[in-house]
Amino acid sequence: MRQAGYRTVRHYLWLCVNTAALDCANIHRNHPTITFDDNHNRKIDVAAIVAGEVCKIEADLQALSPQELAHGGLGSVTTADSCAPIGLDGTTRKNQKKTTHVITSPPYPNRFSYVHQTRPQLHFMELVGNRSAATEIDIATVGGTWGRATSDLAKGNIAIPPKLAGVLDFLPQLRGKSPLMANYAVKYFVDLNRHIGQLRKVAAKGFRGAYVVGNSRLSGVEIYTEGILARLFELHGFGVDQIVVFRRRGGRRRLYECAVCVRG
Ligand SMILES: C[S@@+](CC[C@H](N)C(=O)[O-])C[C@H]1O[C@@H](n2cnc3c(N)ncnc32)[C@H](O)[C@@H]1O
Repeated sequence: MRQAGYRTVRHYLWLCVNTAALDCANIHRNHPTITFDDNHNRKIDVAAIVAGEVCKIEADLQALSPQELAHGGLGSVTTADSCAPIGLDGTTRKNQKKTTHVITSPPYPNRFSYVHQTRPQLHFMELVGNRSAATEIDIATVGGTWGRATSDLAKGNIAIPPKLAGVLDFLPQLRGKSPLMANYAVKYFVDLNRHIGQLRKVAAKGFRGAYVVGNSRLSGVEIYTEGILARLFELHGFGVDQIVVFRRRGGRRRLYECAVCVRG
């Protein structure tokens, strides 16, 4: 993969190796735990699995129309914390293009840890060196809730920026039921609020955004994520066009996904 001849396709190869690493590992992935699977009769052919993944990507690329390929050139990928000040290194900030559109699905306040779920990938692909590196990523993510990310929340009440105090309508009830869950939900919305603050700085004139979020139930208390997110956008001067409820989630009662459509 590191040879010069593979340079232009190295990201595709990286995806193939990543997928194969999970398929080939002697593990069972049971949500939310992972266990070793040393006593199995599987015949593991690593090269064939990697080659199979390469063929899938090749077929996907072959299926693209010339118009789709032309659009591919418009995109760029940046790895960054969406809540942190954009362009921390100065140069990036100077060259930062204004953002015209955002279509995204941030985490929901449902105590799902993306770091916990993807730690085999993070480990196999040497993206984290040790357990504490994974913990640090989880602490930085919106809604991170694995290990220390949760025990940190058990210490006192999370400070709420004054503007947010009136928006977090679930808080009095949830604090009474579970101070820990109340802190978790507060941190989630404080993080989203930081993200919107950063977005405000880079949003182009005529900006349009669609944020897909799910509502949630913590310790029996309903969290109407979409309504709170809409208010946060308004606090930062964005207009909310509509909130579209478009599907139920996981068959559970009164859990659904919405798109919060904003402009500004
Ligand atoms: C609901 S998932 C959506 C993923 C992706 N948009 C998709 O549809 O496949 C939320 C994603 O946000 C990422 N995330 C959490 N906190 C973040 C942050 N502060 N900056 C950037 N991404 C973050 C998580 O790792 C996760 O991949």
